[in-house]
Amino acid sequence: MRRPTSCQLALLLLFLNLCRGQGSDSGDGRSDSGDGRSSCHRCDSHLSCNCSHGGFTHIPVVTDRALTIDLSCNAIATVMDDDLMGHTRLRALDLHGNGLAAIQPSAFDSLWSLEELDLSDNQLAALNYRWFRKLEALQQLNLLSNPYSCLGSPPLFQGLIQLRRLAFGGPALEELRRGDLSGVTQLEELTVHANNLTRYESGTLADIWPLGRVTLSLHGPFLTNMPVASAVLGDVSYPETPITLEDLHLIGNWSVQPLRESARKRIRHLSFRNLSVSDEAVVSLLVVVDGVPITYLSVDGITLTGEGRWEKASYTDQRSIDEFFAQDVVVLDVFKFFSLLDLKFLLQYLRRVSVINSKVFVMPCITSKLLVNLQYLDLSDNLLTDLTLVETLCGDHETLKELRVLNISGNPLKSLSTVSRLVTKLSKLTHLDVSRTGYISMPPSCPWPSTLRHLNISGAKLTTTTPCLPATLEVLDLSNNNLRGFTQHLPVLRELHLSGNKFLSLPPGQLFPNLQTLTIHSNTLNMFGRLDLQSFRRLESLQAGQNQFVCSCDFVNFLQSALKGHEGIHLTDGEDNYVCDSPLYLQGEPVGRVHLSIVTCHRVLFVSVSCGLVLVVGVLLGVFLWRLHAFWYLKMTWAWLKAKHSSRCRQRHRVIEGSEALLSFDAFVSYSERDAGWVENFLVPETLRSLTLCLHKRDFLPGHWIVDNIMSAMERSRRTVFILSENFVQSDWCRYELDFSHFWLFDGHAAAVQGRRPQTLLQTAQAHELHHLPGVASGGGAKAGVLEEPPQSSKRR
Ligand SMILES: *[C@@H]1O[C@H](CO)[C@@H](O)[C@H](O)[C@H]1NC(C)=O
Ligand SMILES: *[C@@H]1O[C@H](CO)[C@@H](O)[C@H](O)[C@H]1NC(C)=O
Ligand SMILES: *[C@@H]1O[C@H](CO)[C@@H](O)[C@H](O)[C@H]1NC(C)=O
Ligand SMILES: *[C@@H]1O[C@H](CO)[C@@H](O)[C@H](O)[C@H]1NC(C)=O
Ligand SMILES: *[C@@H]1O[C@H](CO)[C@@H](O)[C@H](O)[C@H]1NC(C)=O
Ligand SMILES: *[C@@H]1O[C@H](CO)[C@@H](O)[C@H](O)[C@H]1NC(C)=O
Repeated sequence: MRRPTSCQLALLLLFLNLCRGQGSDSGDGRSDSGDGRSSCHRCDSHLSCNCSHGGFTHIPVVTDRALTIDLSCNAIATVMDDDLMGHTRLRALDLHGNGLAAIQPSAFDSLWSLEELDLSDNQLAALNYRWFRKLEALQQLNLLSNPYSCLGSPPLFQGLIQLRRLAFGGPALEELRRGDLSGVTQLEELTVHANNLTRYESGTLADIWPLGRVTLSLHGPFLTNMPVASAVLGDVSYPETPITLEDLHLIGNWSVQPLRESARKRIRHLSFRNLSVSDEAVVSLLVVVDGVPITYLSVDGITLTGEGRWEKASYTDQRSIDEFFAQDVVVLDVFKFFSLLDLKFLLQYLRRVSVINSKVFVMPCITSKLLVNLQYLDLSDNLLTDLTLVETLCGDHETLKELRVLNISGNPLKSLSTVSRLVTKLSKLTHLDVSRTGYISMPPSCPWPSTLRHLNISGAKLTTTTPCLPATLEVLDLSNNNLRGFTQHLPVLRELHLSGNKFLSLPPGQLFPNLQTLTIHSNTLNMFGRLDLQSFRRLESLQAGQNQFVCSCDFVNFLQSALKGHEGIHLTDGEDNYVCDSPLYLQGEPVGRVHLSIVTCHRVLFVSVSCGLVLVVGVLLGVFLWRLHAFWYLKMTWAWLKAKHSSRCRQRHRVIEGSEALLSFDAFVSYSERDAGWVENFLVPETLRSLTLCLHKRDFLPGHWIVDNIMSAMERSRRTVFILSENFVQSDWCRYELDFSHFWLFDGHAAAVQGRRPQTLLQTAQAHELHHLPGVASGGGAKAGVLEEPPQSSKRR
């Protein structure tokens, strides 16, 4: 084997380097830059770089132009002063979940445009005001879940004049002092995790106003340090500020006392998240809020340790409570749980009740009857069946007369006719949500309240629809069923949702003269077109993405013009959802970016135009060749070949017969017709005594091809005499004879005739002699030939 040259080695190394670079690049968007810092290239077209879960141990190199950088869930332990240098355009930086323990004082100094900074869930044991000095544009700061025990001094947030959302605190936060939040004057959102707070200087949070939403985790203070809890609550409670309390464990009547402070400030929105509460605490809570204008009470994630005996608070005034929202309710002892019978004082004023995902299998009719003002009932994601629904809605008896919205989505219901019969008496019902239920079929016809306008039967298992659907509907959601078609006439329908079914084409638009919005994405539509859409007279917005589009020319053209908004319809689900499914070579390609060639799109036109072109070119070529006498030359060549062939035949014949070629002449005279006079008057008489000459005028056989005649004349002559003159040079026939004699000379056949090798005698007719030649009449012509006349010299000249 040859040893590789140094050049080859260098190429190989380069190739290996390229491969390695690509390998690490294509993998997780990481690669090493020169100075040992890794880079992250996972940026999208909006310059949003998601370097989350990248395994980085240092801040990677990211393009300076990035607007957001997500570096969450890596293992970055420190941020150095120059790590983020030059990111003057950065708007959002997410560093949560990194185990970040140290940030150098000037690390964020160049982030003049930073609006959002997330440092939550790290190991920052001390906060440094110098980090935030230059962040004048910062609007949102998250410092939750770090092991600092105080905010530190000088005040951290002094320079953050734009700050609107602030979250701080963690399991170690013990102390908050007046002045810690100086500089923070108004907030849209404040979150404080202070489950272990032991020292709170009253008034620390009191200077923030207006204050949008407040979320407080005060588990420890509520249990062990009520003055702290009361002080914190007192400082953030305003009538217009919704308060959410997290992670509380309320057992005795005393544990609720800090809420007195909020009640005194007449708060209106109170929410609990992750609450566990005993009966006694519920009663105390109701006592605490007695007469307080709370309108909204919500519990998200509540564990009831009691039995639901809250009637001891029945003397309290709860008439202001408008809306009660409960989600993920767990009743520890469900079988002992007392029904809500004696809670008329609480229930009669409610207008909106939601009890979601709480394993409710029935609401007793007696309770329903207490809800006399109820307008909105949401019992979604529970365990109601057709049977218990009858009990909940009191069968045929009057109940819930004010109800306008009923949401029983996500319950194991089976019969659409049952629910339609039950709700018929709800004479104000406008919205019915029976989505995600077990309805398989629709009865042929159903009664409905005449007010019903919104019906949601999405996520059931319907395969067909029937006239059961009321004609009063304005919004109908049938998405995520098994429908293949939809042909009900709904004259006032405005919105129709058919996504996630098995439609092959759009439903006929004539059936929905008022339809404005149609969603039919995630079906099996192959295509739709202008005509389909024109049948919907009022359609304004359409979502038809994620279908199996056949990217034909018509469809691609239409959709591209629709995406540009030229079809009068807004495709609200965005360009990227319209993807070709076939033909194969376009599979996965967004329709908006497909470019089909003219060949595929205008096949007939293309074929006819190209045929026409070929024809025109053919005709032109023909004319061109005709002008150049190509046909005559072709014919000549043909005649030549034939003549040669017949000459060979004659020779073979002679060889077989053993006879010598018959030499009839001493010489064949090749001359121009114009020199005929000189030949006839001078040459022939001069040589007549000694030689027999072959003259074309005299000795060519009439009726034979000229070429044939020429060949045979040369064969039968000992010599060929050329009368070289200007006329000879100009005569095609003469040139041809000269060529032929040359050919004959070098052709093997000539040699076969031993001793008879033709010799070419060139006699030069001197120019002055030729001058004496009389003008030769061109009569006589090329005699004998059946051949067409040659183009230029039509006769032998
Ligand atoms: C970044 O990607 C992760 C998954 O790797 C995802 O959970 C996160 O939401 C993404 N962040 C952004 C801002 O899109
Ligand atoms: C809560 O504070 C006490 C001291 O007040 C401390 O001993 C304990 O470790 C803190 N808890 C957490 C989870 O940091
Ligand atoms: C709920 O609160 C308890 C304390 O009452 C806490 O231990 C638990 O972690 C919290 N759960 C969640 C999901 O936050
Ligand atoms: C708390 O309940 C106890 C009895 O369980 C009662 O003696 C006490 O007065 C109640 N305190 C308040 C503030 O309601
Ligand atoms: C009913 O509840 C489901 C799930 O909670 C929700 O998605 C839907 O919007 C609700 N319907 C109405 C009419 O409020
Ligand atoms: C119908 O219900 C589904 C699931 O509960 C929900 O996602 C959807 O938004 C509802 N449709 C309408 C039009 O509100």
